[in-house]
Amino acid sequence: MSKRTLVTCALPYANGPIHIGHLAGAYIPGDIYVRYLRMRGEDVVFICGSDEHGVPITIKAKNEGVTPQDVVDRYHKVMKDAFTELGINFDIYSRTSSEVHSENASEFFRKLYDQDDFITQESEQLYDPEAKMFLTDRLIEGTCPKCGNEHAYGDQCEKCGSTLSPEELLNPRSKLSGAVPVKKKTKHWYLPLDRYEPWLREWILEQHKEWKTNVYGQCKSWLDGGLQPRAVTRDLDWGVPVPVDGAEGKVLYVWFDAPIGYISNTKELLPETWEKWWKDPETRLVHFIGKDNIVFHCIVFPSMLKAYGDYILPDNVPSNEFLNLEGDKISTSRGWAVWVDEYEKDFPGDQDVLRYVLTANAPETKDNDFTWKDFQQRNNSELVAVFGNFVNRAVVLTHKYFGGRVPENRKPLPVDAETLASILPCRKALEENLDTFHFREALKEAMNIARIGNKYISDMEPWKVAKTDMDRTASILYTCLQICADLAIAFEPFTPFSAEKLRSILRVGLDAGTDHRAGEGAPTVNFYRADEGRAVHTVPATEAIVLHWNQLGAAELLPVGHELGEAVLLFRKIEDAEIQQQTDRLAKIKAEREAAAAAAAAAEAAKKIEPQKAEVTFDQFEAMDIRTATVLAAERVPKTDKLLKLTIDTGIDQRTIVSGIAEYYSPEDMLGKQICILANLAPRVIRGIESRGMILMARQGDGKMRFITPQEVLANGATIG
Ligand code: 2FM
Ligand code: ZN
Repeated sequence: MSKRTLVTCALPYANGPIHIGHLAGAYIPGDIYVRYLRMRGEDVVFICGSDEHGVPITIKAKNEGVTPQDVVDRYHKVMKDAFTELGINFDIYSRTSSEVHSENASEFFRKLYDQDDFITQESEQLYDPEAKMFLTDRLIEGTCPKCGNEHAYGDQCEKCGSTLSPEELLNPRSKLSGAVPVKKKTKHWYLPLDRYEPWLREWILEQHKEWKTNVYGQCKSWLDGGLQPRAVTRDLDWGVPVPVDGAEGKVLYVWFDAPIGYISNTKELLPETWEKWWKDPETRLVHFIGKDNIVFHCIVFPSMLKAYGDYILPDNVPSNEFLNLEGDKISTSRGWAVWVDEYEKDFPGDQDVLRYVLTANAPETKDNDFTWKDFQQRNNSELVAVFGNFVNRAVVLTHKYFGGRVPENRKPLPVDAETLASILPCRKALEENLDTFHFREALKEAMNIARIGNKYISDMEPWKVAKTDMDRTASILYTCLQICADLAIAFEPFTPFSAEKLRSILRVGLDAGTDHRAGEGAPTVNFYRADEGRAVHTVPATEAIVLHWNQLGAAELLPVGHELGEAVLLFRKIEDAEIQQQTDRLAKIKAEREAAAAAAAAAEAAKKIEPQKAEVTFDQFEAMDIRTATVLAAERVPKTDKLLKLTIDTGIDQRTIVSGIAEYYSPEDMLGKQICILANLAPRVIRGIESRGMILMARQGDGKMRFITPQEVLANGATIG
């Protein structure tokens, strides 16, 4: 075991609230891991913060008419509160707009610059002459040359999926000012990743074969594809200024400064001792991230650290794949997400349910789907029916038969000891899975302990035994209560709120290890003090019971005679109506999205122009008798959807025309209208009605039709040509 572990979670961009995709990807696994290590007595620093730079933040600010600082101030708070709400207790949650970070990132760049670790390249890039800014691909909009979408980005058309370059766009314009971009020369600093390729191959592909398959595989494919120099500066006015001469108007690329944020935030938290966390080889560095961050954490950042020289490298980068929501990609801009702040409003006090479901269903090896049905099912049939039900039965019966005190093990049978003995293997499996970042499996093992307890109490039926044999009832409940205490340890990493509730029911504390929230190692034994009747996180009272991880499945945890607290339910049933409300909300968003897509498709189709028909002669044209007429009467042709029978005055006569326009016009719409007709079309019998002539209609690309009418009312029979 290493002396200490530095755990980081990806710094989320401060441009939107935290949703379940973030949680499942990096933050819940990170928190589980940290809680577990601390319970095992490891010294851990847990680092996170907001990533406050990057182009999307500047675009959002521009769209809202506020400054980028306003945007990040708003979301920094929202995100910080969301993590706290879910019990994800980073030692520090700082931000990359902080002074410490700006200095630290500058110093980092400067050292690499002084060591000649960068190369520079001059290139022509697109520039907005009005906003006086270089434009990244996403800041350029234009018409896609492949499908005609007028809102394609400089790097991609989201409509047809084509990869584009800004030069390919038709009618390109700046998203900042609308101006036509011009080409302008600019110089940038590049980290020549190709230099690190041999070393990276050895370090990752040979020395880190234990990394998760998805992470290892992505690294291998990047390395096999060959690494190119990567620009680490940008022409932008939002970010950490490039701290060298000749770089006016340039900032560090967000992906250069953000990972340095991990170091800056540690420095801010532990100004005196941060170096032992980042520079002592006895420290193990673990990054929790989502899969879109793999290349930056496994290839780019390690190359930066290697170039700098003094830093340790990540020991592991457990990355998850993506979580989808009800079969669709999560997207904040499309409103397709479950956000922590909304969840909190709809399910107050149910933080652990979300933590549980997102772990049980985590996208550890492949993309996975969150559904509200599964959420309800896992809550009602696992947390409530197994875990909660077992604990409740054990505690309620202890109050009923033994005055709320742990009874003596008066009449033990082999099944009791066998049941208790079956818990140790669960703990071993739990540890193995947590040590190797298999959190889903680990949670299953914790749940197994609850299943063991629930089955035992159901099989033993102490409520029946109590009618005839109080000694045996005592042994059964003694055994159940020991299992309850095991659960109060095992579930702490996964569902800390319920584990704490359980400990307050059992009136015990937990050695949850030491955190660094207050700076240098503040002891936070999560302790229950019987005299106050509630869980507190401070000084242990000497007479109270403190549970330790290594007692799980291995010892008598609750001594005979120990007094329990009141029985309260650990979990509540989630009702169908609550789930319906969530699925209705999503269904509404989906319907709106589909309607918008259909309208956009129709608008696009409407613009489709039919190619010109084959030539006709003047005589052929002259042969057609086209003239004005007025509709005197109109009715639907019975048993048809499309046909109207019109009686018209042609100026020559009154006649009947059957026309397929009922989809677009009702009989009332047509009545009295002046129209144009082809009068000398050979008569045809349609549905038993003789139709003499044809109404002239304009038809656009999507099929929509309108009749043609003279600009002002003319006499009927006026000829057209
Ligand atoms: O993907 C993201 O949300 C990035 N902001 C993660 C940055 S992680 C680290 F490098 F800071
Ligand atoms: Zn396109």
